Amino acid sequence: MCGIVGYVGPESNGRALDVLVEGLARLEYRGYDSAGVALVADGEIAWRKKAGKLANLRAEIEARPLPPSTTGIGHTRWATHGGPTDENAHPHLGGEDDKVALIHNGIVENFHVLKTELLEQGVRFRSETDTEVVAQLLARAYAGVGDLTEAMRAVVNRLEGAFTLLAVHADLPGTVVAARRNSPLVIGLGDGENFLGSDVAAFIGHTKQAMEVDQDQIVTITKDTVEVMGFDGTPAQGKRFEVTWDAAQAEKGGHSSFMVKEILEQPAAINDTLLGRTDSTGALVLDEMRIDPARLAAVDKIVFVACGTAFYSGLTAKYAIERWTRLPCSVELAHEFRYCDPVVDEKTLVVSISQSGETMDTLMAVKHARELGALTISICNTHGATIPRESDAVLYTHAGPEIAVASTKAFTAQITACYVLGLYLAQLRGGTHAEQAQQVMRELHEVPAKVEDLLGRMDRVREIARFMADTRSVLFLGRHVGYPIALEGALKLKEIAYIHAEGFAAGELKHGPIALIEPGQPVFIVVPSPTTPYSLHDKVVSNIQEIRARGARTLVIAEEGDEAVVPFADEVISVPATSPLLAPLLTIVPLQVFAAELAAAKGLDVDQPRNLAKSVTVE
Ligand code: F6R
Repeated sequence: MCGIVGYVGPESNGRALDVLVEGLARLEYRGYDSAGVALVADGEIAWRKKAGKLANLRAEIEARPLPPSTTGIGHTRWATHGGPTDENAHPHLGGEDDKVALIHNGIVENFHVLKTELLEQGVRFRSETDTEVVAQLLARAYAGVGDLTEAMRAVVNRLEGAFTLLAVHADLPGTVVAARRNSPLVIGLGDGENFLGSDVAAFIGHTKQAMEVDQDQIVTITKDTVEVMGFDGTPAQGKRFEVTWDAAQAEKGGHSSFMVKEILEQPAAINDTLLGRTDSTGALVLDEMRIDPARLAAVDKIVFVACGTAFYSGLTAKYAIERWTRLPCSVELAHEFRYCDPVVDEKTLVVSISQSGETMDTLMAVKHARELGALTISICNTHGATIPRESDAVLYTHAGPEIAVASTKAFTAQITACYVLGLYLAQLRGGTHAEQAQQVMRELHEVPAKVEDLLGRMDRVREIARFMADTRSVLFLGRHVGYPIALEGALKLKEIAYIHAEGFAAGELKHGPIALIEPGQPVFIVVPSPTTPYSLHDKVVSNIQEIRARGARTLVIAEEGDEAVVPFADEVISVPATSPLLAPLLTIVPLQVFAAELAAAKGLDVDQPRNLAKSVTVE
């Protein structure tokens, strides 16, 4: 949700502000309602904060410069408690002398009780946030113990909810103290400088050496030291890792938006997610998951839990995994899962799908599944994130950093990883399942080149998008694996182009939605491959005829050479042929390109749509 960065560097350079603002620029995708920084300088806290995007903060700092400093914290906010105003922006100051500055990601659920207590003691608040309550508590605790780490420890033990907190004190140049519970925090290890971030993007321009922080831990950094301890005061060790991508990957590289760049990166994202997952005989090898294969082979049911686009990737994979494994497979919205009293036991495999690995709803679903005894696997794109750490095993997607809020390459990488997992399960089950697994793996390896080819001929789709910039409503139809693709196509358009868009199962049309069709209504139809069983192709072609007869403008996504759709299509968008279950990796591409182009044609911010944040770390 919010983006957090902390820095301590050498006295010689005093460049804390530059490091923080650069980190915030890379983290802005996490939240962009407001931004702020606090520096420790000359025994005081020097700070600036501003509602709106980071550009507003930059302008404010230019108008009212800040002093050089070695130590500071920075924040980009996605508002929860209190609207996106200058006052509610972080940092928040604490203490009668404003000597503590604090930033926060998450929600402190018991803040009302704590605030009432402080109000009764005469504390006056300047914002509506839960964060300011914590800042005031921290200042009071520090006044008592005279040690910022111990003060933080005292405070976090009073908080309920989810939080990452970073704090500095005016009397402590050279120290930043942080704490985390159910919200992300990672340490960047530099040479004579250290960093804190809500993800590695915060410091990727400076170091690739990083350290994970566990749940309920406090971290104190100076320029040369990193100390970690539990909320109970027990010393702890962070786990070091090397970041596998570089700063250039987190930059636009000449593209008009991150979303456009990430759409184009899909061949690599799919390919990299397949890499290293077969041996020289073509058999799938997932030793990285470190799960006893016997336990996996004993699974009698699979439940996917995820939200948004990740949910649609699970919905897409269900068709394939049931076919390949003959195991029943259901897909649940993570935020509903806990509350529907799920029928889950130790023979159930619960697979969570999350790009960020931080989505609170998904995290809670995983925790609940574990409580019920299920085996849990996380499909995740972010190394060391909370959800994989809370799961029995992880299968990483290798899509690289996804910066645009609207998910694209993570989606196709998630589908790919689900396929890999499904094929591995099929292989474990042996017999014909196993033979089929190797054959499908070979076909999967051909998909990245087909996506590349498809991406090279999207000009007409972009033209259609520009032409449709004033459209107020678009419908999406699909059947079989095309159904979740219709849902995902509609979601992309809603979230970045703010156009009313709905996806339907084509078979559902006659049960209600066809009433929406009026002359000129644009409808995308994702047509199954003619080789799909049960004559599904012909059934969808009939649906196209039905809506066209009622005046719809039909935009048909069909396999190359599918002549049957031509007479009923206002536009045919051809995608390379592949086996029907793998087709979603291709059919989604034109819909992503369409949404990105249309949003750009409307003059909207493609990467940072209104009201949204990249990762949703509150329930
Ligand atoms: C839509 C989108 C969201 C996310 C959802 C889950 O483009 O990005 O719907 O898919 O918020 O996020 P993760 O995958 O991080 O759990």
